[in-house]
Amino acid sequence: MEKMFSVPLKGGAYTDVFSISGIENLREVLQSYGDNSLFVADANTACYLPSGVESIILPPGEKEKNWASVDRILSKALSIGMARDSVFVAVGGGVILDMTAFASSLYMRGARTVLVPTTLLSMVDATLGGKTGIDYGGGKNLVGTFYPAESVMIASDTLKTLPDREYKCGLGEVVKHAFLSSDRRLHDFLDCNKKAVMERDSSVLGEMIRLSLEVKIEYITKDPEEKKGIRSALNLGHTFGHALEAMRGFEISHGEGVAWGMGRAFDAGRMLGITPTEYADEALSLIRDFGFDTSYRISKDDFPAFYSAIAKDKKKKGGEVRFVLMEGQGKPVLLPLEQSTIMEAVAGA
Ligand SMILES: NC(=O)c1ccc[n+]([C@@H]2O[C@H](COP(=O)([O-])OP(=O)(O)OC[C@H]3O[C@@H](n4cnc5c(N)ncnc54)[C@H](O)[C@@H]3O)[C@@H](O)[C@H]2O)c1
Repeated sequence: MEKMFSVPLKGGAYTDVFSISGIENLREVLQSYGDNSLFVADANTACYLPSGVESIILPPGEKEKNWASVDRILSKALSIGMARDSVFVAVGGGVILDMTAFASSLYMRGARTVLVPTTLLSMVDATLGGKTGIDYGGGKNLVGTFYPAESVMIASDTLKTLPDREYKCGLGEVVKHAFLSSDRRLHDFLDCNKKAVMERDSSVLGEMIRLSLEVKIEYITKDPEEKKGIRSALNLGHTFGHALEAMRGFEISHGEGVAWGMGRAFDAGRMLGITPTEYADEALSLIRDFGFDTSYRISKDDFPAFYSAIAKDKKKKGGEVRFVLMEGQGKPVLLPLEQSTIMEAVAGA
């Protein structure tokens, strides 16, 4: 087990991020939490739990990210006599992590939380920054808390069992971090290791995840509670992407939506003279290198449905949707866009 980062939190605390190689080592480390812990996993990640621990195994999927699941976790915690210094250990993708951390933040006004992400998306995006929560009243993550974990254990070997679609979803976020980074290390790393990354070669996964997490840390430490607008840059590609996901009835994955959305953000930036053409071309080429389609355009007939999905987002955010555009490497800007600009970016001229 190797400590990768100690991420500073408010009040002098830290989230320690460890990397662990090998599943047996992971189980051994997790076993050390012993009697004082409750493990939460879903049916696809229960295989990573150590034997003989108290656990609750939920069905997989976003539809389970609800009060009923949190209630099950809290009831189990109470029934096994967990105290405030007991540890909730979440082993799974973002759904399990968000829900378990939420339950932990509520239990006796806050118990200890350890996150063990098992999807690429959750490794690079859902472990740091302290956001916990559940979906509520038809909206995603509408109920939740800020409650950073005390430790994050990253075992990239768990990615071996991850379905391709989920792996690709995480790659979309890694590529996004490559653009948002203040330096080019992740961008160059992805450029040089395309094949190995696509094949999930263990010799490159650790470094890719480390470089990607560095970018996330860069943004969350500057804006821990998402109040300064800095952290909003992490939504690059998301506004366009969510609208496409909503319009297509979620038949495309979140990663595909974000990757497509980043392409549209680079196009809009180029059209407005914000993104230099050379940088936009290079960025689109990196997105394509990882198997994402950047050429897809919605039909003009579908634009009203697309725009109404954006308008819904607008209502949620209290009136104004600001899109993340890029002035260049690591230089995001947040801007409202005219309807005509959005139309040209997503449906062509
Ligand atoms: N807290 C945050 O900052 C933050 C950031 C980004 C996303 N999220 C949340 O994360 C969630 C999405 O996370 P996700 O993409 O990890 O989805 P997920 O948790 O639903 O996992 C995707 C699927 O992969 C399966 N799975 C997970 N690990 C596996 C493994 N190693 N082998 C085989 N199957 C495995 C799961 O059972 C599930 O079926 C969303 O709810 C989103 O809101 C939170």
